[in-house]
Amino acid sequence: MSQHIIDGKQLVGDIRGKIKEEVDALAAEGFRPGLAVVLVGEDPASAVYVRNKAKSCDQVGIYSEVHRLPAETTQAELLELVDKLNRAANIHGILVQLPLPKHISEDAVIDAIAIEKDVDGFHPINVGNLSIGKPSLLPCTPAGVIEIIKRTGTTISGKKAVVIGRSNIVGKPVSMLLLRENATVTICHSRTENMKELCREADILVVAIGKPKFVTKEFVKPGAVVIDVGINRLEDGKLAGDVDFDDVVDTAGPITPVPGVVGPMTITMLLQNTLQAAKALRK
Ligand code: GUN
Repeated sequence: MSQHIIDGKQLVGDIRGKIKEEVDALAAEGFRPGLAVVLVGEDPASAVYVRNKAKSCDQVGIYSEVHRLPAETTQAELLELVDKLNRAANIHGILVQLPLPKHISEDAVIDAIAIEKDVDGFHPINVGNLSIGKPSLLPCTPAGVIEIIKRTGTTISGKKAVVIGRSNIVGKPVSMLLLRENATVTICHSRTENMKELCREADILVVAIGKPKFVTKEFVKPGAVVIDVGINRLEDGKLAGDVDFDDVVDTAGPITPVPGVVGPMTITMLLQNTLQAAKALRK
């Protein structure tokens, strides 16, 4: 693998190894961190994500339970389950897989999760704490993006970072985290004018726009760190990121292939959040 193509296996392996050591030490004291994952309905992509989350918990010794509920589940029934999990002593992290069926308000469900068990970092209190710089559970994909950038050896402080995408799950929180690391941050989105020119100034380019192969080499300053959060299924069945990898790879500095880095790193941050939540709740 070329030097500047980020190796997800090694990165994730290192961090998960450290998580496992800590979980094993806690387990030796009779305390095992636990994660509950809730899946409503039969969305095939969600089912794969949930399976991967549970499998990853097993690998590091975190207890996990998956609650699979039918698509017709009412909001009241889901809120009842969340309430039960909020009170369960063996559960330290709760993740309700999104998207939820249309008849259920995602906001109502997220609001109901105990903030100290909100391992997705989606609760408005955790979002607020992130934006005012208070310690909180951080959303997994954005936290993973920062970890990836740091592990390339890049100093974030003082650098120009451009984030393409302004979603609540990725674009906004990753921008807040980059700002917290003292980057100068620009957020681009569908209404941005001169996007290519803005992106070409970036030392760090984070792409989360949900459009396959959107970013070509004209967007990339030579040597820039390029983190591709996108994962799109093409008509031929293949997966592609939001970055046209083959076009950009020779221009970029450290770059993430899709799949293989941001996805596994997101799950790794979920494991880390569950461990962090468990330690805080144990006190
Ligand atoms: N669906 C897609 N990404 C996510 C995520 O990070 N958390 C949850 N709960 N659902 C998702």
